[in-house]
Amino acid sequence: MPISMHAACNCSLRALYAWCMKCPHNILAIESSCDETAAAVLQDGERLLSSVIASQIEIHREFGGIVPELASRHHMEAIEPVVRQALDDADMAMADIDGIAVTRGPGLVGSLIVGFSFAKALSAALNIPFTGVDHVYAHLYAVFLEEQKPAFPYVGLVVSGGHTSLYVAEDFHHAKVLGQTRDDAAGEAFDKVAKILGLEYPGGPVISRLAKRGRPDAFSFPRSRLRDTPLDFSFSGLKTAVLTRVRKLEAAGHIPIEDICASFQEAVVDVLVDKTMAAARMEGLSDIVLAGGVAANQRLRSAMKEAGASCGVKVFCPSQELCTDNAAMIALAGYHRLCAGMNGNYDEDVYSRMPVFRKGRIKKIHL
Ligand code: KG4
Ligand code: ZN
Repeated sequence: MPISMHAACNCSLRALYAWCMKCPHNILAIESSCDETAAAVLQDGERLLSSVIASQIEIHREFGGIVPELASRHHMEAIEPVVRQALDDADMAMADIDGIAVTRGPGLVGSLIVGFSFAKALSAALNIPFTGVDHVYAHLYAVFLEEQKPAFPYVGLVVSGGHTSLYVAEDFHHAKVLGQTRDDAAGEAFDKVAKILGLEYPGGPVISRLAKRGRPDAFSFPRSRLRDTPLDFSFSGLKTAVLTRVRKLEAAGHIPIEDICASFQEAVVDVLVDKTMAAARMEGLSDIVLAGGVAANQRLRSAMKEAGASCGVKVFCPSQELCTDNAAMIALAGYHRLCAGMNGNYDEDVYSRMPVFRKGRIKKIHL
């Protein structure tokens, strides 16, 4: 494909996609994998014109976690007004949109289906392409919406409520899995420890707030080291250690919640920082990207930056709004898929889980 044909899309990234038919000019993205209904408009793969997030946290809080049935019902109610708001904020009409990106998985199937069906219907009605995006990889590339961008290849740590994985992001379409959690995800550990302590859902923000007033060395919680697969993670032992300690303290009549929060958080942060630095060393890479909801944690961000500075490695953290779930990252990942001709088709379905890689196996993924 001659570059001149592609140049019609006016995209500054066109050197990357000189071989494709056309990058979308204005992409509308939809995210509904969990408890946020979100929509965003991205122009030319780099200018974020709007990002709207309708959170259901208040609805699920009283149940101490997400109730899948309630989540899908609320996505149904929210999706149309959220999309409309994203278009209004971008000062656009539906007719200005020439591509749609939507989360295809992983997540709650009943929730994903709402966004995915809505996106397919829009695509059919407007006669424009759509593409299904993997939510976890969207986290991995969200940093490209920031001013400061890493250089490929980089080490990416994705830490969220459902995933804790280390990758080498080789480009927008290829990544290598270096390690994954064998049990709980880091965010899940925050949520479960909050529950043990009788704190509200989601646990991450409340634990990090309380941890500021606690001593990180008050309790010595385990840092899991896995000898055969050193870049894999395990947080279930840590959660159990907190539970055991809390029961003992309860029997003794006093639970120093702030100290528990600070000591637990420090154990998670130590493991995440150590393994990410080890991954950069092993791969010989000098750029690290921190992504996913847990990457909003201030202590993790500062500890990773300190460790990076002492190892001569650059650490990139997207803003907090781009770490937690949003549709802007879906738009960015979807843009690169559509540019590469990876359009969705109407037979495609959503998926709830990512593949689990066998211990120690390094897997290449084509995105
Ligand atoms: O990426 P995300 O918004 O949704 C998923 O894809 O899972 O991540 C949500 C997770 C929750 O487990 C939440 O407790 C955690 O991110 N989280 C945090 C913080 N903010 C959100 N964990 C630690 N510190 C935070 N400040
Ligand atoms: Zn997420």
